[in-house]
Amino acid sequence: MYLAKLHVADFRNVARVDLEFGQGINLIVGANGAGKTALLEAIFLLARGRSFRSSQTKQLIRRGQSQLLVRGDVVGVGANHALARSKSSQGENRTRIDGEHVALQSRFAELLPLQTLLPGVGDLVLDGPGIRREFVDWGLFHVEQRYLETARRFRKALSQRGAWLKDNPSATLQDDPWSKTLVTSGSEISAWRLRFIADLDEHFQNTLEHLASGLGAELRYADAGFDGDELAAALQMQASFDRDRRYAATHVGPHRADMDIRVGGISAKTSVSRGQAKLLASALLLGCSSLLCGRDGVQPIMLLDDFGAELDEVHRNRFFAQLQRFGCQVIATTTEPPSQLLGGTMADNARVFHVEQGELKRTS
Ligand SMILES: Nc1ncnc2c1ncn2[C@@H]1O[C@H](COP(=O)(O)OP(=O)(O)O)[C@@H](O)[C@H]1O
Ligand SMILES: [Mg+2]
Repeated sequence: MYLAKLHVADFRNVARVDLEFGQGINLIVGANGAGKTALLEAIFLLARGRSFRSSQTKQLIRRGQSQLLVRGDVVGVGANHALARSKSSQGENRTRIDGEHVALQSRFAELLPLQTLLPGVGDLVLDGPGIRREFVDWGLFHVEQRYLETARRFRKALSQRGAWLKDNPSATLQDDPWSKTLVTSGSEISAWRLRFIADLDEHFQNTLEHLASGLGAELRYADAGFDGDELAAALQMQASFDRDRRYAATHVGPHRADMDIRVGGISAKTSVSRGQAKLLASALLLGCSSLLCGRDGVQPIMLLDDFGAELDEVHRNRFFAQLQRFGCQVIATTTEPPSQLLGGTMADNARVFHVEQGELKRTS
């Protein structure tokens, strides 16, 4: 699975660029402010419908223009697909797959599975649980077809229960119309996550051993009361009812869960250095790619922004060597010459694009 062609128009400082990526490592090289991250951001927008650095679409449209456009040709396992997305300053969104209008956002994420390694990659280890839940659920979405529908049902019931508790301060446990849905869908989500994290743990430990042997770590699902067993979850909901009513919020369930990363038996969040956090996060991304490539034939495409600044040379080389082993496409930005980021032989095989002020200079 790889992104073969990319067309970007009126996106940030990019007026119009056409790129033909290779299946292996692609490097976008240029000075600060050239538009390197903007190109990754355009790919991300195509897949996910949003930017990774701005919540306002208007900021993405090139100043003075009224609409941005991103198109990509994805070479898939059995079929190829043409994805296109445009956004106007008036708030109009157009989404097309193979020339047909497709409203379902998840179809884009499915056909263009992106993993990102952006500046601050260590946050995946050091930040609050939300970022790790999102990471786990992204992987789960690619291996479990039913995940999306169940997650939607759970979220809806969660917000309806919150509103109901607020409106009914003297509600009783017996009246609760939402807990059953929360228990069934929440237990299903927890059971999937539990299995996914156990699988991921194996791949994670393997890649971590290659990346930084000696930094032993393991993953565990901190389930927030829902371990996949419905009866146990129902009891947790019962026990939490008074507290839930007092705060008009649901305190147990997968929306409060975390993926615990443990080093030497202690939570990494509170014990590792920034440098170690970067290594652990890199191993998590690699481990997830390894899992998906091995089992489901979903080869994630790796977007690496300013990766040179994240890991030192030795670890960087090991990182790229593993990605090559999995056969993942890599699209990376760098301000340094390719041989400094990748080392000699790997740089010789990379496809290099030079960007200057939003324009493509030459390709080698
Ligand atoms: N909406 C916009 N219209 C025109 N230029 C923009 C817009 N948004 C950002 N820019 C400019 O685009 C350039 C691209 O930045 P960026 O992609 O971060 O560069 P790089 O990653 O190469 O350092 C910056 O110089 C920024 O000022
Ligand atoms: Mg940048």
